[in-house]
Amino acid sequence: MQGHGRCLKLFLAFALLLLQYAQGGEVDHSQRDTNVPRRCIEKERQALLAFKHGLVDEDNSLSSWGSEAQKQDCCRWIGVYCSYQTGHVIGLDLSFEVVFDNLQGTMISPKLFELQHLQHLDLTAINFNGSQFPNFIGSLTNLRYLDLSWTNFGGKFPSQVGNLTNLVYLDLSVNSFTNVENLNWLPPLLSLRYLDLSSVNLSNAFDWLEAVNKLPELTNLTLRYCDLPPPILSTLSYINFSQSLASADLSGNDLSTSSIFLWLSNYNASLVYLDLSANQLVGSIPDVLGNMSSLTHLDLQSNQFEGGVPHSFARLCSLQYLGLSSNNLSGQLSKFVQILLSTCAQNSLEMLDLGNNQLAGSLPDLTNLSSLESLTISYNQLSGGIPESIGLMSKLEYIDFRMNSLEGIPESIGLMSKLVYIDFSMNSLEGVISKTHFSKLSKLRYLGLSSNKLVLDIHADWIPPFQLGSIHLRSCKMGPDFPKWLQTQKEFSHLDISDAGISDSFPSWFWSLCRNVTFMNLTSNQIRGTFANLTLEFSDFPTLLLSSNKLEGPIPSFLSTTKHLDLSYNKLSGSISFLCSSAAINLGFLDLSNNNVSGQVPDCLTHLESLVMLDLSNNALSGKIPTTIGSMFRIETLKLRSNRFVGQLPSSLKNCTSLVVIDVGDNKLSGPIPEWLGVSLKKLVILMLSSNHFNGSLPSQLCHLTHIQILDFSMNIISGSIPKCLTNLTTLAQKGNPSLNISHSYIISNINWGDDYDDDATFMWKGGMQTYKSTLGLVKRIDMSSNKLTGDIPSEITHLVGLVSLNLSRNQLTGQITPEIGNLQSLDSLDLSQNHIDGRIPTSLARIDRLGFLDLSYNNLFGKIPVGTQLQGFDPSFYAGNLQLCGPPLKKMCVDEVEKGPSGQTDFINQGDKDELITLGFYISMGLGFAAGFWGVCGTLIFSRSWRYAYLKFLNGLNDWLFVRIALLKRQLKGA
Ligand SMILES: *[C@@H]1O[C@H](CO)[C@@H](O)[C@H](O)[C@H]1NC(C)=O
Ligand SMILES: *[C@@H]1O[C@H](CO)[C@@H](O)[C@H](O)[C@H]1NC(C)=O
Ligand SMILES: *[C@@H]1O[C@H](CO)[C@@H](O)[C@H](O)[C@H]1NC(C)=O
Repeated sequence: MQGHGRCLKLFLAFALLLLQYAQGGEVDHSQRDTNVPRRCIEKERQALLAFKHGLVDEDNSLSSWGSEAQKQDCCRWIGVYCSYQTGHVIGLDLSFEVVFDNLQGTMISPKLFELQHLQHLDLTAINFNGSQFPNFIGSLTNLRYLDLSWTNFGGKFPSQVGNLTNLVYLDLSVNSFTNVENLNWLPPLLSLRYLDLSSVNLSNAFDWLEAVNKLPELTNLTLRYCDLPPPILSTLSYINFSQSLASADLSGNDLSTSSIFLWLSNYNASLVYLDLSANQLVGSIPDVLGNMSSLTHLDLQSNQFEGGVPHSFARLCSLQYLGLSSNNLSGQLSKFVQILLSTCAQNSLEMLDLGNNQLAGSLPDLTNLSSLESLTISYNQLSGGIPESIGLMSKLEYIDFRMNSLEGIPESIGLMSKLVYIDFSMNSLEGVISKTHFSKLSKLRYLGLSSNKLVLDIHADWIPPFQLGSIHLRSCKMGPDFPKWLQTQKEFSHLDISDAGISDSFPSWFWSLCRNVTFMNLTSNQIRGTFANLTLEFSDFPTLLLSSNKLEGPIPSFLSTTKHLDLSYNKLSGSISFLCSSAAINLGFLDLSNNNVSGQVPDCLTHLESLVMLDLSNNALSGKIPTTIGSMFRIETLKLRSNRFVGQLPSSLKNCTSLVVIDVGDNKLSGPIPEWLGVSLKKLVILMLSSNHFNGSLPSQLCHLTHIQILDFSMNIISGSIPKCLTNLTTLAQKGNPSLNISHSYIISNINWGDDYDDDATFMWKGGMQTYKSTLGLVKRIDMSSNKLTGDIPSEITHLVGLVSLNLSRNQLTGQITPEIGNLQSLDSLDLSQNHIDGRIPTSLARIDRLGFLDLSYNNLFGKIPVGTQLQGFDPSFYAGNLQLCGPPLKKMCVDEVEKGPSGQTDFINQGDKDELITLGFYISMGLGFAAGFWGVCGTLIFSRSWRYAYLKFLNGLNDWLFVRIALLKRQLKGA
């Protein structure tokens, strides 16, 4: 299968050659033959110079164009083609080696109009920055070939191209035109063979099919992501249509009607290439496709097809590519394959993509698909073993079986000498992988066996036959020694050997292999030892994950040349002066938590301008928080919990206006709670200042934190009253939360790519320290316990209906519990113990049916405990110390047993909202990590398209990438 893009370029070159014959002239080759006298028509030379004037040519690609004496002859200029006979410019092609954005257009000079003999115009990928498309193009009536794709022209769609009746080739794809009203300009182009209007918005062009049908010569039609309206049935039977349509690409249009197949069946004899992917087609895969006997490429991915392949496919004898991934296909895979095997396609099929469906059963013998090079059945429900016969499929280069429940790998895999890519990750594979499994895999570049139950049993002297570029062996046991065979792999950029049972130190050769890595994950092993005096420079600012090992000693400065560094849960010690290295300028994510680093944080942080996340929690750092922390202007998460920091929060922190999370709990910080927290840091979602020596009263500015979800001031010496302006905390005043987690993404400016991460937070929850990550977005809590707060609990607090936890215990609060307390319908935990609160327990409290924890002990409450679902269920100790409280669950009976709450006993049944999300969410998702997130979402995007597209054929990959982006953007805009 040829890459579409490459074909295009070839076609283009030929088209130029063809031009000379059409013209009866000859393309000027005198650039090589210097004896031929030059003819360049002055008016046209001036036009070309004017055209160049409208371009920004930073790389000087048009250096041969100029007015200097030796550049007089415009026929010698690069990209300019003249007729040998007449000397007129007949071709202008600036698509040569266009690298993105190296040629920009400010405007297209109207003088180009002078090139009246122009037959071929190609300005592909010159960025005209949304400028208006030139009107005069409609008068260059000799044009046969017009390619203005990816030129970012804007304004009204140039329907004057309809005047160019000689056009054979027209590509206006990927521009920024406004909506097109109709395509009635198209039918006059009677010679048109090739039409590409991809990403042009045709949602109002209801005549698109009618217009296309009137082009008798059309062979290639490409209308990707055009928002096509449904085809109008009456036009389907139009007589004058081309009989020769060979290629139709209508992908990404949300088409849902099957009448599109009715239309396509007009081209049964001629269609070779059909792409209907990323539409909304439903039902069974239509039988009529089986009549398209010349099809080599059939792409139906990302639709909603059900069932299996129709029997009529037996007639598709030339099919090379069949893409059916991301549909709702179901049934036994073996039945599915049986039909393919009974067809004559069994010898032609090279690529089969069935990923992301609901195919079940075991993997059948596929050896009869004798030409198969690429096989994708990821994200299905396959089980059982992989048949030994797979080793006979000698042409297979690519296998993707990720995310099934497959159980064993046969040794015969090792015979597949063409295999380049193999991904069996996230199955139930068990057993031992030995060197036999790899014996002939000399071409292997991608090895994916992550998240199975495999043991890699390979002798220390094994020399693998391959050089891997990407190694994914998470949870494959290969310890206790460090895998020595890695030493032979000199080209990998991705290495994941996390949770591999390695309890060894880094071998001396290891780090020098990692110079070119972009991603390395060695977490959750028992790797010990120090970095010693390593020096090394990474070439790519990699992601380095080394957490949960036993690394010791100081952190070497070369690690500052990463972009994402996680060293948490080790035994690293010494200072963190490596941060002072100027190389740390690209560091975006740094987690050093749970180590033993000590000393002061050096006051050298001025260059950490990329840092978005800094976690130094649970170390032995001391001294003041340095002032230069305020230069980290991109920082979103700052965690300094559980160290020995002293002094005040530096006021420079108010420059860090992107801050979302601050956790400085469990230190020895002092001074008042700064007012600027509420004034400057408007984006704060989590503010944790607990277990310090903060004093003074709560500044009312805190009420400006409209995004705040967790406010924790517990265990300080804060006095005064609770501000009444709490109602302004709008996020707390809303129930639920649109997002489960609190996630960030960052792009490192210098290297133009970044990462994502989800915040976690650790705090006291129902009597124990808990860490939340995947559901952190749902946690809404206020904790002001163990301070010296006085006065009433302001009744305004009952407006914070989103609160899940409220802890005001261990203060000196007085007054009564407000009767509206029952408004806090989301409350899961309420602790008001050890205050001086008096009065009765409001009956409305019994209406909070989510309440799972309640502590009212040691106050001055009296009267009967209201009767409700839970209130009687709590342990009596949570009511203790209120000498005049009575009724169940306390043993003390009330004097007047018939006493009733003012509103009777039944009103606790009334609850409006049945949203169970929070409580449920907490329990089911406490253990879920974030790793699955990235590969679950992005991994499918990257690899669910057949790998040969995404990986080998870069040009195509680029297109796909773009269209995926456009599709995502569209979806975002639609708000779906
Ligand atoms: C295109 O053709 C129409 C009618 O034939 C004419 O009126 C119009 O001026 C032409 N447009 C251009 C830009 O040449
Ligand atoms: C037109 O489609 C055919 C069939 O898929 C293909 O071989 C040819 O390269 C296409 N032409 C162009 C210019 O892309
Ligand atoms: C790293 O990349 C450079 C340049 O691409 C190459 O010459 C070198 O061999 C690579 N080194 C390693 C260890 O992969």
